[in-house]
Amino acid sequence: TVIRLEDYRPSDYLIDTTDLAFTLEPEATTVRAKLSVRRRAGVAPDTPLVLDGDELTLAGLKVNGETPAENGYTASPDRLVIGDVPADETFTVEIETRLNPSANKQLMGLYRSNGTYCTQCEAEGFRRITYFLDRPDVLSVYTVRIEARTEDAPLLLSNGNRTESGRLENGWHYAVWHDPFPKPSYLFALVAGNLGVVRDTFTTMSGREVALEIYVEHGKEPRAAYAMDALKRSMKWDEETFGREYDLDIFMIVAVSDFNMGAMENKGLNIFNDKYVLADERTATDADYANIEAIIAHEYFHNWTGNRITCRDWFQLCLKEGLTVFRDHEFSADMRSRTVKRIAEVKLLKAHQFPEDAGPLAHPVRPRRYSEINNFYTATVYEKGSEVVRMIRTILGEDGFRKGLDLYFERHDGEAATIEQFIKAFEDATGADLAQFALWYDQPGTPNLTVSSHHDAGPKRFTMTIEQRLTPPIEGAPHAPMHIPVKFGLVSAGSGDMEWTAVSGAEVTGDVIHLREPKHTVVFEGINERPVASLLRGFSAPVTLFPEAEDADLAFLARNDPDEYGRWQALSTLVTRQMKQAAARSADERGEVFDEETCAIFMDIAADDSYEHAYRALCLTMPGENDIAREIGNDIDPDTIHAVHRAASRQLGRFGERIFARLFHGLEPAGSYSPDAASAGRRALRNIALSYLCHGSQDTALAAKAFAQADNMTDRAHALTLLVHLSPRTDETIDALKAFQDEFRNEPIVMDKWFTIQATAPGAETLETVKALTGQTGFSWDNPNRVRALIGAFSAGNPTGFNRPDGEGYQFLCQAIGRLDGANPQVAARLMTAMRSWKNLEPGRREMARKAMEGLSARPRLSRDVRDILDRTLA
Ligand code: ARG
Ligand code: ZN
Repeated sequence: TVIRLEDYRPSDYLIDTTDLAFTLEPEATTVRAKLSVRRRAGVAPDTPLVLDGDELTLAGLKVNGETPAENGYTASPDRLVIGDVPADETFTVEIETRLNPSANKQLMGLYRSNGTYCTQCEAEGFRRITYFLDRPDVLSVYTVRIEARTEDAPLLLSNGNRTESGRLENGWHYAVWHDPFPKPSYLFALVAGNLGVVRDTFTTMSGREVALEIYVEHGKEPRAAYAMDALKRSMKWDEETFGREYDLDIFMIVAVSDFNMGAMENKGLNIFNDKYVLADERTATDADYANIEAIIAHEYFHNWTGNRITCRDWFQLCLKEGLTVFRDHEFSADMRSRTVKRIAEVKLLKAHQFPEDAGPLAHPVRPRRYSEINNFYTATVYEKGSEVVRMIRTILGEDGFRKGLDLYFERHDGEAATIEQFIKAFEDATGADLAQFALWYDQPGTPNLTVSSHHDAGPKRFTMTIEQRLTPPIEGAPHAPMHIPVKFGLVSAGSGDMEWTAVSGAEVTGDVIHLREPKHTVVFEGINERPVASLLRGFSAPVTLFPEAEDADLAFLARNDPDEYGRWQALSTLVTRQMKQAAARSADERGEVFDEETCAIFMDIAADDSYEHAYRALCLTMPGENDIAREIGNDIDPDTIHAVHRAASRQLGRFGERIFARLFHGLEPAGSYSPDAASAGRRALRNIALSYLCHGSQDTALAAKAFAQADNMTDRAHALTLLVHLSPRTDETIDALKAFQDEFRNEPIVMDKWFTIQATAPGAETLETVKALTGQTGFSWDNPNRVRALIGAFSAGNPTGFNRPDGEGYQFLCQAIGRLDGANPQVAARLMTAMRSWKNLEPGRREMARKAMEGLSARPRLSRDVRDILDRTLA
């Protein structure tokens, strides 16, 4: 069944309060729910009450304290219909259900992870706990009583504040939690178990003291210190930046080791995948630290954007996710280097969202239909959703944006809102008209901008023609012209941005051109000499740009654009273009990948100490093989791209050997480890220098030495990757893998790195390694992190291995999905997205990919999750 946006209608009934009582047993948990139900005004009194369920068995039912007659209701695993409803406007419904948390491998609803009871209810997991109006626009006040054996679960947590706790008979105990804020069921959470805790406090801007608690496996407490620090910084930042204060007396985070996603923003009780909480220098990389900081912030920020104001229905998912991603991006930009953060975001957007938007899984930021909502927690909803919010800020300016957001909070606090209401708040606060802009929410696909320009010396006029085109990735999708804000500068040969005396042909405010028509001819007056246009600074809109720019102009911008982001963008465009051209030449005629000038720019940046280390590291990082594939677009041969990538690394490694050696030796770790951005940048630059030295010399001796000497996981994992990817069969590599395994065999999230490094080693043979690793102790098909680290990394991060010409990589993935689907459909469906660009492959591989997917499709009992992705991918 397909759910459609236009079919939305409010529920007939509301649930004002929800009292839950859990008696926790690993295999036979009892849940008693008492709901105070209210019929919505205007709804006929005999309208049945229809509650959602999922794999539930009803163990007891009372309506207004009485057991209803046998024919007064019907119960099935996925629905409870009470036909015989009282005539009163309000009444109570008491429901008893029984669950087996230990057998719950879907990790939705109530399950046990590593001995800890925990819940995941977004999007539709609450209905796996009790029958309910499990939809985000039904807000209820929850009181939760938890009983458990004290020995099994000394810790009993739920949302809100603890109002009671105490001992019971036979070694049992209980706790009662009350959350005063009405919330939708997807924000409900319960945790019970035996965990260690780290405590701190935060004093809010109005002077209230909030207790902060992070729960982790016993013994891992020191590894939660960074997460705690990130939490306090997030709380402070949200007060300073958006005036948002925390609202309960306690804020808790629990780290669990089996979790389908990154983390979950349950009111006052966030639950996290432990890899996004736990870190120390021995076990976590700088990238892990940055992710922890961002995700802790993200979930915390949801308290206002998601919890206080939630979504009317799941079509509005980007209302909370896009906005909250935007907020966490801004937070990280303020905590770290803004340009570096922005470049990282753009790389991620292009790597994940652009291919999604160009392939069979494309959908609008606000989808209009779905058959399985879990498949819409996508890069488009999250990352493009964030870009859309960023564009609103670009269009309205900092102040207008803040005014609009303030109005949104003021108007909709305590409500379940829509995108229309969000847009309206910005319009009403600023007087702007965002009607055309709002198309960004409804039209799928990445707009293309084509630009041409010329300069007329006589009248001192610079003319730029910009055309926008939207190729709808979905047949029949709308594609009206969009409002696209293009940040720009006209860079003069004497360097610096030029001023103009007048401009016509498009609205220009400050440094932003507002495109609204299919084609604009923008004329700048008073321009003495031919400038080079630097367009889309800061990636002001999620579009692709086809500049007419010659290599020479790009090289000029890479050196002279006064905008730091613009310099990176120009270099990256230039480098990608030359790699793509090299891939188009036959192997014997390929020659060098880059021209001299491009190599020289690379090296000048590498050697320029006036730049931040992290910025230099990003500039020196070549586009990945998947990035080149995306640029080529169709008839992809991953082996050719890999060969070009290797050749390019070798060329630069040789060309810049002296500089890389100086960087590698000059940036040796000084003093003790610190995860801060500056220190991380220093490590990043040193490690990239090491990569080039290995590629240039075709020798990994230096990496072996770096592996042995590393005193932190960033350097260690980097060196191990070089060894495994460049010299897979040497004794040094085998010894290094063994040493790593010996040290971390009891640390699953660290072993995930070991799995991933091996799974991403280029070449067809890696498939055999991956198959062997599935039998390794330490691997488990039941744990999402293990599956993603091995199978996910292989299929999405190993272009030559996964796309073996014989199609065995596709067969392996589809078999793995078939196997996983019975236990955890969400994780299985997510793995399937590795096939989203299969239509761009060369014909031989394309056929193999199709066969593998058709084989999977022929299976009789696929989950709705996998079926949905598979059908759309094959269509
Ligand atoms: N709301 C969570 C977050 O973005 C993600 C939850 C996703 N859950 C799911 N079942 N798809 O922070
Ligand atoms: Zn989120």
